Amino acid sequence: MPDGQAEMPRHKSEDDITAEVLARFSATPDPRLRQIMLSLIGHLHAIVKEVALTEAEWFKAIEILTEAGKMCSDKRQEFSLFSDTLGVSMVVDLIDHRKPEGATESTVFGPFHRLGAPEMPAGGNIAHKDRTGVPTLVSGRVLDLDGRPIAGAVLDVWQTQSNRLYDSQDQSLDGLHMRGKFKSDSEGRYLIRTVQPVNYPIPSDGPVGAMLKATGRHPWRPAHIHFVVSADGYEPVTTHIFDRTDPYLASDAVFAVKDSLICDFVRHEKPEPQASRLGIAGPYCTAQFDFRLTPSAMAQATIMDAQRRLAALGTRG
Ligand code: BEZ
Ligand code: FE
Repeated sequence: MPDGQAEMPRHKSEDDITAEVLARFSATPDPRLRQIMLSLIGHLHAIVKEVALTEAEWFKAIEILTEAGKMCSDKRQEFSLFSDTLGVSMVVDLIDHRKPEGATESTVFGPFHRLGAPEMPAGGNIAHKDRTGVPTLVSGRVLDLDGRPIAGAVLDVWQTQSNRLYDSQDQSLDGLHMRGKFKSDSEGRYLIRTVQPVNYPIPSDGPVGAMLKATGRHPWRPAHIHFVVSADGYEPVTTHIFDRTDPYLASDAVFAVKDSLICDFVRHEKPEPQASRLGIAGPYCTAQFDFRLTPSAMAQATIMDAQRRLAALGTRG
């Protein structure tokens, strides 16, 4: 019998159709793919039956997916935005990157990481072209789960400019900006100069924006700085730090806020010695955050590096 089919009733009811489709896919050779396909079909058919989907609604859904596909380019990934705004990215992240107590929690990767961020010395300024943001020093340590320093850890950092745009969204910019790779010193310390992060709306001129509008949701993300922190022998962590005072912490458009990642950006009116040494003359902010990494022996084998993630998103490096 082709497709591993047994004789089945011919499409008498919705449930007959579901049963036949499930039976057809039950011959999938790869067990994991079989599990995923059977579950997907079960849930998909269940939604259609539960809401009694009309043909017009189904065609609307296809139209939305077609439009999403057309919007995708090396600078825009609408499907990833759907995943983020539907909360799926965060559920996958939580399931696949479970951390022991005390380890820095992960959060969404997002679509704006780029490969090739310049290596910078401690105190290097990732915001060298930003003329309007409040100068900010972010510092802390990279530690293991026992609080011992990890020397030579790499902190790959990215952030929006104070005009709320990533470099890849800003037509007036050529090349990389607001990105850098820093290394922790022998005591695990790192120091980054940037500008105070600001909240910003995710791209909302496509089907994701239409969905947010139609469902009464806003597109804003609370102010944050992105990090991928990695070190030999440890599981890399993809995460953000968030500004505690941001009004969107409780309603992040992509559900990425975790209490342990919220941090104080403290304003100083006059530069202290460290800020003066780095050439800061006026008011500025400091933020402190320690990263705690999990030994790689405890890690699962499913961590994707940035390059593989970007290839999946079709975005440029
Ligand atoms: C970001 O923080 O860069 C981001 C994350 C998810 C969707 C859009 C943007
Ligand atoms: Fe971001």
